[in-house]
Parts: sequence; C-alpha cells; structure tokens
Amino acid sequence: MIAACEMCVGSARSSKCSTTSDVVGYRRAFAGIRSIRLPSHTPRLRSGHVRGRREKPTRAMSLRYIGSKSRLASVLVDLIGPPKATQRLVDGFCGTGAVSLAALDAGWRRFLLNDALLSAGTMAFARLTSQRQAPFDGVDGYEEVIRYLNSLEPDPGFIAHTYSPLSLANCDVERKYFSEENASRIDAIRRSIEDLLAVGDVTEVEYRVLIADLLQATNAVANTAGTYGCFLRDWTSVALKPLRLKPRELLRLDTEVTLEIGDVNSLRTDPTDVVYLDPPYTKRQYAAYYHILESIAYGDAPEVSGVTGLRPWRHNASVFCYSRLAQDAVTDLLLRIAGSRVFMSYSSDGFVDLSELVGVLQAKGETARLCAIQEIGRYRPNRVAGEQAAVQEWLVAINREDASE
Ligand SMILES: C[S@@+](CC[C@H](N)C(=O)[O-])C[C@H]1O[C@@H](n2cnc3c(N)ncnc32)[C@H](O)[C@@H]1O
Repeated sequence: MIAACEMCVGSARSSKCSTTSDVVGYRRAFAGIRSIRLPSHTPRLRSGHVRGRREKPTRAMSLRYIGSKSRLASVLVDLIGPPKATQRLVDGFCGTGAVSLAALDAGWRRFLLNDALLSAGTMAFARLTSQRQAPFDGVDGYEEVIRYLNSLEPDPGFIAHTYSPLSLANCDVERKYFSEENASRIDAIRRSIEDLLAVGDVTEVEYRVLIADLLQATNAVANTAGTYGCFLRDWTSVALKPLRLKPRELLRLDTEVTLEIGDVNSLRTDPTDVVYLDPPYTKRQYAAYYHILESIAYGDAPEVSGVTGLRPWRHNASVFCYSRLAQDAVTDLLLRIAGSRVFMSYSSDGFVDLSELVGVLQAKGETARLCAIQEIGRYRPNRVAGEQAAVQEWLVAINREDASE
C-alpha cells in the first residue's frame, strides 16, 4: 500500500549548529504581522451567525498532526489555569495551535506562538485570528475570496510537477501525493494568494489565513496515511475528490498574537509569561514529515531529492528528536526559558527520563513537579488496524511565582 518511506533521521545535528538562514529570513519577513493588537472586545467563544451562515465553535476544527494535543487540550489548559490580568501565553512548539486555541476558553487573549515550521505556525496563527483582524474588506469579504480561489483553473507548477504523476516527466519516480488536477489547483491557488498580497487586495494577516486554508484543503486530498513521509501506491477516494478551500470560522473575539518561526532555543520570553512547551519526543522529524506543507507555506520551489521529493530539511532537524541529545536539550530549555510558570508535555513513549529531569530541575532550585495526564491511544499514521498502544502523557510543571514575588 505504501509506496515510499525514507524518513531516516541520519546523523545528529542540532539546529543550533546548522544553517538557518531561511528561517532567520522569515523571522524578518514576519516583522509586519508579528504583533496584532486590536481594541479589546472579548465576548466568550460561542456559536452564532456570520453573514447568514451557521457558525460552529472554532474548537470543533481539528487538524491531523503527529503529537497534536487536540484531545488533551482542555485538560492541559485546566492545569495551566487562567491568565493573571493581561499575562501572555507562550506556545513554544505550537504545532497546530490546539492548546492555545483551547486556552481561549480559560480567558487567555495574548499569545506568543512559535514553531520551527512555517506551515505549523501558519495553521496555528489562523486558528487564533478573529473576524475583525481579517475582515477581507479589499476582496468583498472572506467567502467571496474563497469562492474566487476555488473557481481558478488548475495551472501546473512546482507542486504538480514534483508531487503528482506529472513528476515522471522530470525524474524516474511517479509521485502520487496528489492527483494532477488537485496538485495543479494547489499551484494556481498558491500563486493567486501571493498575487492578492502583492497588489494589496489582502493584508498580511488575511494572506496568512488563506495560506492556512490552502494547507488544510491540501491535507484533505493528500494521498497519504497522514504525513508526507510517503505517498500511497493506490489512490484513495478522498485523494480523487476535487480540492476545495473552505472558509474557516474566524474568532468572534479579539486576540493579540505574535508568531515567530524558528528554533525554540532562540525564542525570547518574558519572566511574567506562562510558557507551554510540547517538544517532539520521538525520532520523527517534523520538517521531513511535513515537507510538502512547508513548500506550500513558503511558496518556493526548492531542489528536492529521493523517492518522496524531500525539500532540504536538515537545517531544521530538531535536537529533541535524537535519543542521545533529548535529555540535555529538554533540561537546558526548561532551565533557560524565562516564565513565571513553565509547563512541558511529554510522553512515556519519549526519549527523556522524566523522573531524572524533575530531579535535576529541583537540584537547580526549581519548584518542579510531574503530573500524570491520562492514557491515550498513540497516533500512528501507518498503524495496522487493531494495534493501539496505551501511552501515558505527562506534564512537567515549574512554578517560579513565589521566587519572583
Ligand atoms: C508535538 S508537536 C506540537 C503539537 C502541538 N502542541 C499541537 O497540539 O498541535 C511538536 C512541534 O514542535 C516543532 N519543533 C520541533 N523542534 C523544534 C524546535 N527546535 N524549535 C521549535 N519548534 C520545534 C515541530 O515542528 C512540531 O510542530
């Protein structure tokens, strides 16, 4: 069933010593939209009507993602608790933003999102964007621009020539991540979103929301078992359905969101922040597993390699994905990162010995404890039916509030 899988982690290389020029570049490119602040208007998140259509609660939208905390998010937020006044929540490995999204219900409104992947940061950012922050005034409204993008003729570009059967014309592999038609739609829509920004029809925030919509629509028609580590030999029925963008349910409350794309070790947080960290805990490198989403998010056309057409990703290899580096990496991060309270999710399945970690933190003077969360079924993209291992999730909690008073 699976045609190709070549997610070898290879030699250990921390992202600190690798070249990160494109990531750093993107940090700069984000300068215009990094901080969004609107007049405070914070009703509770609830269902309602927007432009005549029924709006469902935003948290109903879930995205398939390795290590997503969507099923645990409300439990985690209960443990994190509500903000003190205008305190900021830092989501240091935000992924799809499931925990920050759930934190809205506990009253959090100020967020610093960070992820090494632009595709992940984009998806998380869009989920925390409100109707007022993305009014789409320059294009007659959100639904109108989605209608326009869906009406575009397929136009093959990098995605179609690299990740659909059209790839056979350029290399000796027939890649079947997407049908030719869907891949050509992705190319046409991605190009058009870029044009809308270039001529000023959409703002940078609206642009980011549309890219997130495209990433979500792409996921819905990908011919994969859940990640982009491999494609399937036979077409699934969903992969043959036409790709359609759907307008998301933008928040009815206003948030203040800063998005950073880069290594968590370069993230600057404030001693008054509450920090939530959800590092990878296995050897699966997100930059390799989500390489196609990353190319769509960047809108570039990198030189790719191998059967799966991997974009260069080793500069983004995560130190947390190496068994022999993870213990020190996690310990250093927790000791170094500023925050009045710091939380870290981790799994019994991971590389880090959590009892040892808490012992080291306490020996360094931290008030640290370990909370058991609950048993959950492990997300395995290529799981054989019926094979479901129980995994214990943990939360390491550090409290520096007394120390800072
Ligand atoms: C377990 S997932 C987070 C899932 C997220 N909490 C959610 O619910 O969707 C880990 C994330 O960390 C990111 N990541 C891995 N190494 C990183 C690093 N050194 N700095 C920043 N982000 C990193 C990955 O791209 C991935 O999105």
